[in-house]
Amino acid sequence: MKPLRVLVTGIDGYIGAVLGPRLLEQGFNVVGIDCGFYRDGWLYNHSGTRPLTVTKDIRRITRADVEGFDAVVHLAELSNDPLGELSEQTTYDINHRGSVALARVCKEAGVSRFVYTSSCSVYGAAEGGDDRTERSPPNPQTAYARCKVLVERDVGALADRQFSPVFLRNATAFGASPRMRFDIVLNNLAGFAWTAGEIRMTSDGTPWRPLVHVEDICQAIILALKAPREAVHNEIFNVGDDEQNYRIREIAAIVGRVFDGCTVSLGQPSGDNRSYRTAFGKIRHHLPEFRCRWPAELGARQLRDVFEQVQMTPDEFSFRGFTRLNQLKYLIATGQIDADFYWRQHALVADRTEQFNQRSSVLASQT
Ligand SMILES: NC(=O)c1ccc[n+]([C@@H]2O[C@H](COP(=O)([O-])OP(=O)(O)OC[C@H]3O[C@@H](n4cnc5c(N)ncnc54)[C@H](O)[C@@H]3O)[C@@H](O)[C@H]2O)c1
Repeated sequence: MKPLRVLVTGIDGYIGAVLGPRLLEQGFNVVGIDCGFYRDGWLYNHSGTRPLTVTKDIRRITRADVEGFDAVVHLAELSNDPLGELSEQTTYDINHRGSVALARVCKEAGVSRFVYTSSCSVYGAAEGGDDRTERSPPNPQTAYARCKVLVERDVGALADRQFSPVFLRNATAFGASPRMRFDIVLNNLAGFAWTAGEIRMTSDGTPWRPLVHVEDICQAIILALKAPREAVHNEIFNVGDDEQNYRIREIAAIVGRVFDGCTVSLGQPSGDNRSYRTAFGKIRHHLPEFRCRWPAELGARQLRDVFEQVQMTPDEFSFRGFTRLNQLKYLIATGQIDADFYWRQHALVADRTEQFNQRSSVLASQT
């Protein structure tokens, strides 16, 4: 059988940097697309081969870019709530309109499967009641989460006999990726445990947060690519494990146990009302091979081993490249991206070319 040709957007991010090599190992024919916001941050080297990657903004993708692929895995978005607050308009532009436009060109070009990484954050403030299932009404609290709901709605409406979108509502990720993120809860706490020997929570840690290891997200994506159409066509799946609904203070306690000598202290209740427990039965039913292999404690141990191996310093832990909001603020402040988060490089190169041409024609007229 010919290998599936898969285009992965956002391949240079936290999940993509793990997914790319995994797809190649599984025999997929893979190409990546990414505009490269976070390429400054690379915590450790790993042995996996990385797919060929094109540098391009998904808002500029045309039909020609996706022609010939059997499937697209779409990861390229502004990937957390604080980024949505930085520029709500750009969040809608990339995450909602950009994702829907991408799905449309995929459909036009005959790409038959479109795997979209949604998020359990669509459940928002869901304290009390039953664990959220895919049928529970979403209650998004932020622009980021509202965009996820809108993409599910609008891309779902494109589904037909030739085009099968699949929506993976991932729990909050954790675990090692070379393109590390320290702005997600377990990774952040592990970074403090390693660099400061203490976890000082600013909140009381009561909110619920389902977690899933980045390798288990990759497993879900791979199964969604391989599954027969009828198992996944236009389906939404929560990605995680019933056993991995934690209160944030439990996550802190787990991390505290893994890092020798680490102390954990709690703060006051916070104004952050995002709290939800999630049910993960449906994915096991449709994709029976799916199983979370990485409980939180194992992921914390993995991080401890990585930090030890690279002898991670406090400066590395707090480096902007590992915190999405800080990196984007830096790119804006230094004029590298514009207010709409497009790289200015092309403009700079164009300006310089123009100056060069002007100077050349002046010189030519003087000779
Ligand atoms: N990490 C998590 O906890 C988590 C949980 C649920 C869902 N998700 C979703 O999974 C996806 C990937 O998450 P991640 O943690 O790898 O995020 P990330 O921020 O590490 O990676 C996103 C990648 O997309 C690229 N990108 C962003 N905007 C782009 C654009 N306009 N054009 C081209 N490339 C662009 C960035 O350069 C980056 O490499 C996101 O859609 C995110 O919302 C992540």
